[in-house]
Amino acid sequence: MTYQELIQIPMIKTMLPGPIASRIIAQDEEYTSPSYTRFYPLVVRRGKGAIIEDVDGNLFLDFTSGIAVCSTGHCHPRIVDAIKKQSELLLHMSGTDFYYAPQADLAKKLALLAPGTSPKKVFFANSGTESVEAAFKLARYHTKRKQIISFFGGFHGRTMGSLSLTASKTIQRKGFDPLIPGVSHAPFGNCYRCPVNKTFGTCGIACVESIEKQLFRHTVSPDEVAAFIVEPIQGEGGYVVPPFEFHRDLKALAEKHGILYIADEVQSGMGRTGKMFAIDHYGIEPDIICLAKGIASGLPLGAMIAKAEIMDWPKGSHASTFGGNPVACVAALETIALLEEGLMDNAQHVGEFLFELLLALKDKHALIGDVRGKGLMLAIDLVKNRESKEPAGVERDAIVQACFKKGLLLLGCGLSGIRFCPPLIIKDHEAATAVRILDEVLSELKG
Ligand SMILES: Cc1ncc(COP(=O)(O)O)c(C=O)c1O
Repeated sequence: MTYQELIQIPMIKTMLPGPIASRIIAQDEEYTSPSYTRFYPLVVRRGKGAIIEDVDGNLFLDFTSGIAVCSTGHCHPRIVDAIKKQSELLLHMSGTDFYYAPQADLAKKLALLAPGTSPKKVFFANSGTESVEAAFKLARYHTKRKQIISFFGGFHGRTMGSLSLTASKTIQRKGFDPLIPGVSHAPFGNCYRCPVNKTFGTCGIACVESIEKQLFRHTVSPDEVAAFIVEPIQGEGGYVVPPFEFHRDLKALAEKHGILYIADEVQSGMGRTGKMFAIDHYGIEPDIICLAKGIASGLPLGAMIAKAEIMDWPKGSHASTFGGNPVACVAALETIALLEEGLMDNAQHVGEFLFELLLALKDKHALIGDVRGKGLMLAIDLVKNRESKEPAGVERDAIVQACFKKGLLLLGCGLSGIRFCPPLIIKDHEAATAVRILDEVLSELKG
């Protein structure tokens, strides 16, 4: 990439998709599962920092990070170096049956990083859904209770256990019944579109109250509930930030009934919100934390951190051949070092700048009903009407497509949200470029 090209990013030189991309897409469509959600025809060749180059030489500004994964930017030299060094030593031996330093070091690092003072232990997996499965199993095993409560709008993964907890979009569950028994869903603290039709400030946190007044009274006995599993900030469901009181009251309810509190930080964790874990914004020590996505800068890794007293399952009760792969573990250790050396602060700083720009955009475009999020986990919510807040899903889809054509990579979330989850390395000027393109697209849509 020349300097001239770098300063002109994004730079679209061909029709989209270009000729090479079109060929690859045709092949992919013939042989690859049709279940993937691909929203626009991007065929990636390489990535560097916040820049993606497609196979036809077009340059895009990446505000997706490969779904909130590449937090240190694409192919950060320190991550690549760590991977190279480790891959010459050992690619795999299975932490299930043997020991190696990268896994032991990462377990120690994560156990010490996790919020609160209780000693912690770590189970390693390969993905978000596997870390949730592990939490689900451990919660049942430890408490000897069978019921789990998760939240409407929540996304926890797509394997049978985690899918049973997921309540984001019906397409994700439709046709896969029967799911795992013993799961109930409760309303989430979404104050923009309150699920119990109240107004924050006068509601008494009615969504949490409804767990006691509805679920615990009519369908589930609290002494049979193993855990609440909750995203501190909902991700796929729309980057919904609940009020402080939501998590406070939920934790109190959990303690009252001896229910475990599981924070699914797969999307919100690892520095993205300006703190290592989004639950740190709420001052809560979860009993269990699920991690994946941003933990290893793109290598597949998941982790489930639990209070040591809770992780009482015996040898052989749960394991994974690939979980805690040594190459993924060194990538995670280097990722955490980069987060601690400044990327988390950068997420906070650039996140505030981007938030302000998005608020200014909201003043200009009535289609934007809400701007929300923390750090670089931000979203706008598009509405047909600011009073009714009717989701403008069709418009959202058109905007994401139009931004792609102009070289800005975005993803939707929820019914009508657009999320901004760029690599945590981005600078103010890249945030400004993204908002300028979005502004152009919104203006053209209005026209
Ligand atoms: C909060 C949350 N939990 C779990 C998952 C599942 O992660 P994976 O796709 O790695 O299985 C996701 C994925 O988007 C997520 O956002």
